[in-house]
Parts: sequence; C-alpha cells; structure tokens
Amino acid sequence: MSEENVSLLPPKHIAIIMDGNGRWAEKRGLPKNAGHAAGAETFRKIANYCRTLGVKYLTVYAFSTENWKRSQDEISGIMLLMERYLREVLRDMDKNRVRICVFGDLTRIKPKLRKLCEEAQEKSAGYDDVQVNFCLNYGGRDEIIRAVKAYCAAVQAGREDVSELTEEKFANYLDSGGVPDPELIIRPSGEMRLSNFLTWQSVYSEFVYMDVLWPDFSPSDLDAAIAEYHRRNRRFGGR
Ligand code: FPP
Repeated sequence: MSEENVSLLPPKHIAIIMDGNGRWAEKRGLPKNAGHAAGAETFRKIANYCRTLGVKYLTVYAFSTENWKRSQDEISGIMLLMERYLREVLRDMDKNRVRICVFGDLTRIKPKLRKLCEEAQEKSAGYDDVQVNFCLNYGGRDEIIRAVKAYCAAVQAGREDVSELTEEKFANYLDSGGVPDPELIIRPSGEMRLSNFLTWQSVYSEFVYMDVLWPDFSPSDLDAAIAEYHRRNRRFGGR
C-alpha cells in the first residue's frame, strides 16, 4: 500500500455524540421522540457505513447520566429505540457480525432492556467486523468513579498492588477496557462541548464539530469529518 493510502485509512475508533434530534423534530413540528427515532435510523446507516469503511470501533452516546432530567415520555422513547435495535441485532447477528458493547451503569436501566444489553454483549462477543459501543446511562466521570471503586476492591482483595498502578492498568477497569481510545470524536448540531463523554479516553482525540443535526447526518458528512481528521497534525505532546 502506498504511503498516501496508508495515511487515508479511516480512524480505527470513531465516537459520536448524536446531538440535534430535538431541534430536528421541532423544525418539523413533530414530538421529540420522532427526532430520536430518526436519529436511531441515522445511527443504523452510519454504523453500516463505518463497517464498509473498515472502522473497527464506533462509540455512540445514546443516553447520559444527565439525561434522566428529561421527561418520562422522552426517556421511555429512547429506551424503547434501544430495545428495538438490540432485538434486531440479536435477530440478524450472523448476517451483520456486529459486536455490541454497552458502556455505562446498567443498574438503573429497567430489567428488560438490561437483559437485552447483556444478551447482545454475550452473544456477539465472537464477532469482529465492527464493534459498536453504546453509551447508556453513561457519564465519563461516573465511569472513572466506578473504575476507581472496582480497582480499590481489587487492592483490598490482594489482586492489585497500588505501587504497580499505571494508566494502562487502570484503563482496564473502565467500561472501555481493551478498546483503543477514539482518534476522532464527532459532535453534530453545532454544539461545541464534550458533555461528560469519554472523559478518560478523549485526551488525545481530534474533535470535529459539525453544523448538521444528527438525523440529517449522512455518510458524506462522515467522509468530511474523516477528511478533516486527516488534515490535522497529531503530535501527542511532541513536536
Ligand atoms: C441528543 O439530542 C440525543 C439524545 C439525548 C438521545 C440519542 C438517542 C438516540 C439517537 C436513539 C438511541 C437508539 C439507538 C438505536 C441509537 P437532543 O434531544 O439533546 O437534541 P436537541 O439538542 O436538538 O434537543
């Protein structure tokens, strides 16, 4: 492969904040949940496109630890969309070969959806075409706190030694343990914040903010974000 082609390989791991569903619905005089349903459709398209491009990991922010402040109707709507998608994944597993992982604290998620998350994770563990990480009841700070607690429990049980703690070891206690950090994080809808997304993992990610609402986000927008990523000069603190 030529040097130019190597440099144009897509990032191995892309993370997306699926923002703008509410504004998309409002512009059309539709209820917010119609925006989330359209957003879930866009997710399907983009996940397929990532697989075509050879992206290995796609992480999406489906529901944050702060999203519980929304109306009960909206919360149930988002959970239902997740349920539907996971049922589809389980049904079409052999055809799609998508590995599912869920990041976040599932203890607050209703048992029916929680079971589906666990089943999809277990049954898809052997697939590796593309790994989709759903952030569900996820907050970057909450993830770090849960990891600290798990690490401390391991120290108390004598399985870890504090003097041997490294960043790499600690990262294994995060929900993302074993997954490389995202090279590229995309936030559509014009907002320029990270909003508690991948707090630990994003330290050297390239951020691309785009002025398109998530339900309107297309494969060509993903191409544009990847092209922007390739224009960046990543120095990782060096020269
Ligand atoms: C942010 O847009 C979006 C969310 C809080 C939910 C995203 C969830 C989905 C797209 C569905 C999840 C299910 C699957 C299968 C992917 P917003 O409502 O904050 O938009 P706004 O800022 O325009 O109001």
